[in-house]
Amino acid sequence: MIPVNSQHPEVAAIQQAALAIQQGKLVAFPTETVYGLGANALDPEAISRIFAAKGRPSTNPLIVHLAHSHQLDRVAVAIPELAWQLFASFAPGPLTLILQRHPCVPDAVSSGLPTIAVRVPSHPVAQALLTAATVPIAAPSANRSNRPSPTTATHVLDDLQGQVDVVLDGGATPIGVESTVLDLTSNPPRLLRPGSLPVESLREVLPTLDYQHYPISHQDQFSQVSQVSQNASRNGNPDVSQNNAFTPSPGMSLKHYAPAAQFFLFQGEQQAVLAAMLQVVAPLIQAGKRFGLLLVDEDATYLASQPALATPHVKIITLGRETDATTIAQRLFSGLRELDRWGAEVILARMIAPEGLGLAIADRLFRAAAGHIIRCS
Ligand code: TXA
Ligand code: MG
Repeated sequence: MIPVNSQHPEVAAIQQAALAIQQGKLVAFPTETVYGLGANALDPEAISRIFAAKGRPSTNPLIVHLAHSHQLDRVAVAIPELAWQLFASFAPGPLTLILQRHPCVPDAVSSGLPTIAVRVPSHPVAQALLTAATVPIAAPSANRSNRPSPTTATHVLDDLQGQVDVVLDGGATPIGVESTVLDLTSNPPRLLRPGSLPVESLREVLPTLDYQHYPISHQDQFSQVSQVSQNASRNGNPDVSQNNAFTPSPGMSLKHYAPAAQFFLFQGEQQAVLAAMLQVVAPLIQAGKRFGLLLVDEDATYLASQPALATPHVKIITLGRETDATTIAQRLFSGLRELDRWGAEVILARMIAPEGLGLAIADRLFRAAAGHIIRCS
């Protein structure tokens, strides 16, 4: 692990990491979204090392990172005018575009698809590494497959110690949720993953962009919260509706950001949700479960004052004020990891409003809950 200044990365550290990339090794580095696990995108052996280190299915394609958008034609062909327009507005930054893949990029990068995912990260460390390495860098998030994305170098080591040659530690990543993925090979363009560039911003360039977010309207079959808690304490399996068909992009499976604990996501008015949470919690405490609450400050303040929750079997993580999606995004994945490390068997969270950055947060919560939502009214 090499510490680097996040704004003005030290030249020696960057050169060491860039050399490792050129030698086909793996380098974890901070981007503005999350840490990436990088390798030379043009070297098939280096690419196979990424899949092996993460335990990632070979069917889940990688994002290729460039230092500058004018290098797009090194990895893509038949680039539409819209791609240049979007990158003129949003690169460098957290926008990933799906384009037609250039023949020089190995099949394995895209899991054999004729397309390629490309982005230009804005983080100074990522920028410096890409510039020094002089090759495009393929980099998925630097977590073990199915673990929350890493927002610190420590998270990377927790998952990949011994599997990664160099970790550039540039501190916590500023945004905390992954980039927005937009497919320009479909007509009309399709949003595959809501991310840190809000849909509302994309619509400044693409006014007609539509997004069918998680199918909440089909989820709602649950008002009997007590039934949920009974099921949870009986067999650890909530009997809630789910939709496994929701996989817009390869690798975007529902259970993608899943913590080890069983995750219950509540939706509804604050008071109804908090009352329902309390109702769920009581039998779980009786059953001796350790449970975590991943809450906005307003909810945490209320629940922390409840005598029923004053037990060492409960851990509350505060994410920030409900209206402060920026802070919630920064804390979300580390909160999930903290609850996992603490040994939470059950985690409760409340859905947040899917607007702006909130849409990406809502999407990650939905996936952490593997599509299970408990609607309270
Ligand atoms: O913010 C980010 O995007 C971070 C940083 C490191 O750049 N990277 C990241 O990579 O989140 P990863 O591998 O965890 O997620 C890549 C997503 C996956 O959902 C994958 O299915 C999708 O992009 N993807 C990659 N190539 C694709 C392609 N050719 N067509 C459709 N989706 C693709
Ligand atoms: Mg990932």
